[in-house]
Amino acid sequence: MLSRDDVFSELGIGPAWRLREAPAAPGTVTESGPAYTWDTLADAVAHCTACKLSATRTQGVLGVGDRNADWLIIGEAPGADEDAQGEPFVGQAGKLLDAMLASIGLRRGDNVYIANVLKSRPPGNRNPEPDEIAACMPYLLAQIELIRPKLIVALGRFAAQTLLATDEAIARLRGRVHRYRGVPLIVTYHPAYLLRNLPDKARAWEDLCLARRTMKGL
Ligand code: URA
Repeated sequence: MLSRDDVFSELGIGPAWRLREAPAAPGTVTESGPAYTWDTLADAVAHCTACKLSATRTQGVLGVGDRNADWLIIGEAPGADEDAQGEPFVGQAGKLLDAMLASIGLRRGDNVYIANVLKSRPPGNRNPEPDEIAACMPYLLAQIELIRPKLIVALGRFAAQTLLATDEAIARLRGRVHRYRGVPLIVTYHPAYLLRNLPDKARAWEDLCLARRTMKGL
């Protein structure tokens, strides 16, 4: 029998995101394989009411791209554009993400899948809250199990800290290869942050080169 902390750590929910009460998990993960198919996952996200964001979002945003991708890119949460269009990273940050992908020879949808930690937009683009992350993690976990990526790139603090179950600052997490459930994971800055902090683009470029080298070495 797994303890609640075992379940949280299995879900990749770090200390910062742990709740006093167990979340109402929209799906369960078994050791015998994914609890979802792509169809049931898409349906679950579309109709999810597991957290309060369901009251304010336009639609759940599952993810986009190649469901057999080697590369899985994980951001934070849909913004206004993504909430309206139902696809991750379609606003200004998305344009920069596409350019970042292109800089290492990648293209959205071509051996790349893009998802977010949260599938519903936090109102006013506020930060995700711990109960929202806990409620949504089973969906991301199901995506990882279905895609079985060779490499994960975590964009920004929320994705990195959630997946790595740590409160460490992004500056200390980037620049090295972590593992998430056995999959190599590279942390870099979120494109929305890079739009406001141009000097860190050089560091993001180093991270992308590390990701490309890591993938080549697999
Ligand atoms: N920021 C994110 O983290 N994800 C999106 O889909 C859009 C902006």
